[in-house]
Amino acid sequence: MTIEYAWRCPFTNDEVNRLHAEGFEHEVDAYDWWGQVNRHSLGWVCARAGDLALVGFVNVAWDGGSHAFVLDTLVAAAARRAGIGARLVSVAAGHARAAGCEWLHVDFEDHLRGFYLESCGFTETNAGLIRLDG
Ligand SMILES: CC(C)(COP(=O)(O)OP(=O)(O)OC[C@H]1O[C@@H](n2cnc3c(N)ncnc32)[C@H](O)[C@@H]1OP(=O)(O)O)[C@@H](O)C(=O)NCCC(=O)NCCS
Repeated sequence: MTIEYAWRCPFTNDEVNRLHAEGFEHEVDAYDWWGQVNRHSLGWVCARAGDLALVGFVNVAWDGGSHAFVLDTLVAAAARRAGIGARLVSVAAGHARAAGCEWLHVDFEDHLRGFYLESCGFTETNAGLIRLDG
């Protein structure tokens, strides 16, 4: 399957809402991803298959300076374990570097250590998190 990867590419909210619902196992909602990423992100990467279906997405948030943050790495269930997720992150890292960022951050659950640390090239660091809505 040929996959095209594109930075700051067009997408519909419905496409990303469906990927997000599948990836994080919730009902499809009506979130305005297009408005969100255009207002707040350094960029995002879409992966599209030959039939143009959206099979992958990653959002690259940033601080307006040297730090970028990978959020919502998503690959359609039917397209997983074919290298698409790692390539999405690699394309995102390349564009963040080209935009002048010095650091790319991510956090993740234990079962994704192999994905982020071995396949995507992140190194381990101390990090912290406070849940603000609970
Ligand atoms: C995480 C995710 C984006 C990975 O996408 P992917 O295209 O399947 O990843 P890749 O094919 O590039 O994986 C490369 C390697 O990472 C590791 N890996 C990938 N997904 C993994 C998983 N779910 N569990 C354990 N290891 C995993 C494997 O070593 C894999 O190599 P292999 O297939 O040769 O064993 C995808 O599983 C997904 O969308 N998950 C649901 C949403 C989610 O949890 N996103 C992450 C938020 S932090």
